[in-house]
This record gives sequence, structure tokens and C-alpha cells, in this order.
Amino acid sequence: MQLFIDTANLDEIREVHSWGILSGVTTNPSLIAKEGRDFIEVIHEIATLVQGPVSAEVVAQDTEGMVKEGRLLAQVHEHVVVKVPMIKAGLAACHILSSEGIKVNVTLCFQASQALLAGLAGATYISPFIGRVDDISWDGNDLIQQIVEVYAQSPHINTQVLAASLRHPQHLVQSALAGADVATVPYKVLAASLKHPLTDIGNERFLQDWETVPDRDVSTLVKRWLADR
Ligand code: E4P
Repeated sequence: MQLFIDTANLDEIREVHSWGILSGVTTNPSLIAKEGRDFIEVIHEIATLVQGPVSAEVVAQDTEGMVKEGRLLAQVHEHVVVKVPMIKAGLAACHILSSEGIKVNVTLCFQASQALLAGLAGATYISPFIGRVDDISWDGNDLIQQIVEVYAQSPHINTQVLAASLRHPQHLVQSALAGADVATVPYKVLAASLKHPLTDIGNERFLQDWETVPDRDVSTLVKRWLADR
């Protein structure tokens, strides 16, 4: 499974990119609004840095408007993926943009039937929002499993399952086990995913024990050993 980060914040993207785990980025109108910066400049900077798929969402609500915005957004950078909402107009826009070779991420998916329709309309990605599904006491993990199964039964569909709205590290593991192709994860959840109290305790203990070693400067030790050979 690939990892995307779900943010429009360049500092977060730069840091996670430096960890070597990042394949792409998803944004949405709320995340862009939070940054208080020019939408297009932000998308261009992110795509230039990451050199992987960057979802940028249309805000028009009719097919014609979505297609117009989508075609323009696709010109901002070769890695832009046009994000459209899972509504009738979005489906039609997905069909038109996809047939022009523009990559489309169909967002706000809450049931497998929506994923089937988006797949048939030619979406590159479908974004099931598992955290928001859990919020209403349904099962986000079930949703991912169902979509993966529906697509497996439909070999003519080439849409990738992009697990979205992840709230905790377990969502990340569940998405991978359920067969999602990609998970898009907020910075906070990525940071929590690499942390374990036993890792910190173990690391601290190693350092304390190392303090008892008289000759403990690693660079000096290696240089001395190399010079003596
Ligand atoms: C996905 O592309 C969305 O931007 C995102 O995952 C929504 O997450 P939220 O439910 O935490 O807002």
C-alpha cells in the first residue's frame, strides 16, 4: 500500500517527504482554506516537491463547471489529480475528464455502490472516508473491504482504492490489511504511527548504558580503527 499525506501544509509535507515514505498528497477545500494561501501556488509547490499525485478539488457543482475547473487545474502541474465530489455532476465530470486522460479522484465516498459507479466512470482513485463512516457508528473498515471486493469482481475497473479520513494508526493498518491501494493520512496520524512508548524507553535505556562506556565517541573510535589497519 502506498502512503499519501492529507494536508496542504508545506512544512508537514517537507518533513514527511524527508522520511522517504511519501508517494503523493491529497488536499480538499477545507485544508486549502486552513493555509490562507493562494490555492494554485500551493498545489504547484506541493507537486514540484513531491513529484507524485497531488489531488486538487474542484468547487463548481455542475458538470460543465467541474470540467472547466478540472481542465485548468490539470495544467498547473503534470502530477495534479482532479478531485470531484461523488454526486451526479461529479460522476459525469469524472467520465469526461478521464476520457481526456486527466486523472480523477472521486471523493466523499461512503458506500460501495458509489465506488462501483465511480470506477465505471473511469476514476483513477476512489476516496472512501473511513473516519467519517466510523463517526456515524458504521464500519469504515467494512467499507474498504467491500470496495476492494467489488473491484476484484470487476476486472474492467482500474480504479485505485484511496482510504481517506484516517483518524488513528489502527486505521492505517486496517486499510492495508483490507487491500486499499493507498491511504491518505494526516500529519498527526503519521507521527503517531511511528511512535511507541517502548521504542522511546528502549532508546533511552541504550543511551544511559552507553554513558558507562569510557571510550564512547563513535566517530573517533571508527577513525582510530581505520587509521590503525
Ligand atoms: C481526503 O481526501 C480528505 O481530504 C480527508 O481524508 C478528509 O478527512 P477528514 O474526515 O478528517 O476531514
